[in-house]
Amino acid sequence: MWREHMITYFNGQLLPKESVHISPDDRGFVFADGVYEVIHVYRGQLFATEQHLRRLANSLSEVRIAWPDIQRLPAIARELVKVNGLDQSDGLVYVQITRGVAPRLHPFPDESVPPTVYATASPVEPVPEHWERGIKVILVPDIRWGRCDIKSLALLSNVLAAQEAKERGADEAIFVRDGVITEGARTNVAAVVDGVLVTHPRDHRILPGITRNVVLELCQHLGIPVRESPLAVIDLPRVEELMILGTTKEVTPVVRVDEITIGDGLPGPIAQRLERAYRDLIGAL
Ligand SMILES: Cc1ncc(COP(=O)(O)O)c(C=O)c1O
Repeated sequence: MWREHMITYFNGQLLPKESVHISPDDRGFVFADGVYEVIHVYRGQLFATEQHLRRLANSLSEVRIAWPDIQRLPAIARELVKVNGLDQSDGLVYVQITRGVAPRLHPFPDESVPPTVYATASPVEPVPEHWERGIKVILVPDIRWGRCDIKSLALLSNVLAAQEAKERGADEAIFVRDGVITEGARTNVAAVVDGVLVTHPRDHRILPGITRNVVLELCQHLGIPVRESPLAVIDLPRVEELMILGTTKEVTPVVRVDEITIGDGLPGPIAQRLERAYRDLIGAL
């Protein structure tokens, strides 16, 4: 939920959002030259912090941005949760790091230019009818770059895909590359085929989702077989279940893809088992 007034973190300080001034020369503004991370907060507790921290460190290293304070992120996030009155609430911590402020030249600025770091904590409202009834998604061509494993700020293809989904009355857009489902505009995708949970392998075509990871671990505990292999679009009509996985959407069953009804058009048993197991993990925080 967007909030106009909140306390944010900006380059080492906690500041009211309206006091944050970001330069028009910031490379995040000019080139989308930066990376980000989103952590779910449940009843004031951060979820899967270590995994988010590892992925952020990897994104930063892949794009060669140094943020020496990265290990302070959990403390910064907890402070933001507290000062924004979310200690008993559900919310999202957002952090983005750009390559800093410099004249508009494509190569990196001098190493002495510090990164720009901005973070927020804001409340979220769950949408229970999504879990109860399942959602509709659309398929769109995956026109993104070749390093979707990096959580880059450059999200124009994802933005266009999500907007198209909204305009077509759907809740998520799913990317298709070379006839294969890669992932959603802001989620990973998993299907159930012959009782096996199938999800795109972890490579440069998808973001290594934390929710995807958690769900794969849950499958192991629950004895649900997993195959990390590409799912072809032509196989969609014989898919028993489909679901999207993400920090904000958690485990959300998909019941319709364009004009194709998945299974009997209702959330399937494996998605429901995973959702319950995910809830139990959150409940144990
Ligand atoms: C493109 C994309 N894929 C997958 C995900 C899911 O990742 P996570 O479970 O870590 O939120 C996201 C989340 O923002 C995303 O943007």
